[in-house]
Amino acid sequence: MTARSVFPTVYRSPLTRAARRWRGATMLALLCALTPLTPRAAPAMAAGDVEAGKTLFAARCASCHAVGPMATSGFGPQLNHIFNRRAGSLPDYDYSTAMKQSGIVWDDKTLATFIASPGNTVPGTKMRFWGIGNERKVADLLAYLHTFK
Ligand code: HEC
Repeated sequence: MTARSVFPTVYRSPLTRAARRWRGATMLALLCALTPLTPRAAPAMAAGDVEAGKTLFAARCASCHAVGPMATSGFGPQLNHIFNRRAGSLPDYDYSTAMKQSGIVWDDKTLATFIASPGNTVPGTKMRFWGIGNERKVADLLAYLHTFK
């Protein structure tokens, strides 16, 4: 006769408790995994901060891009009226074939995707830019670009 058959409940209960704890941990892990997906699902929906976007543009984009009343295309195309612009469509700028043929129309969503990862969004683009992964920063940049109608 084994100890197990004498005290079946004693032996079963710690297992059950462990199983319950395991299930709890799984749920917790699932919750943790799902939580950051919520803001990620709608990157461009969050209203950005125009001032923060201005600072970011100056630091990360202005070396190649101009905006504002005096803006002209230089190393990169000027970015006034970027929303609803067909990608690669300014007549005064010599785009890559990849950009001209991308079929993209710039809006909050396509711009957010492009800024986050130019090379993956338009493979072959000549915009040599690593990308900005932070959604908050991208939203700020877009808010700033929205002011150049
Ligand atoms: C190192 C220079 C460089 C930097 C920095 C840079 N870009 Fe560009 N960008 C380019 C070039 C060059 C192109 C043209 C790409 C092509 O034709 O493939 C371009 C194209 C674009 C376009 C497409 C415009 C159009 O007319 O279709 C957008 C939008 C854009 N850049 C946004 C940005 C933003 C926003 C930033 C800052 C976060 C940025 N770029 C940083 C060089 C740069």
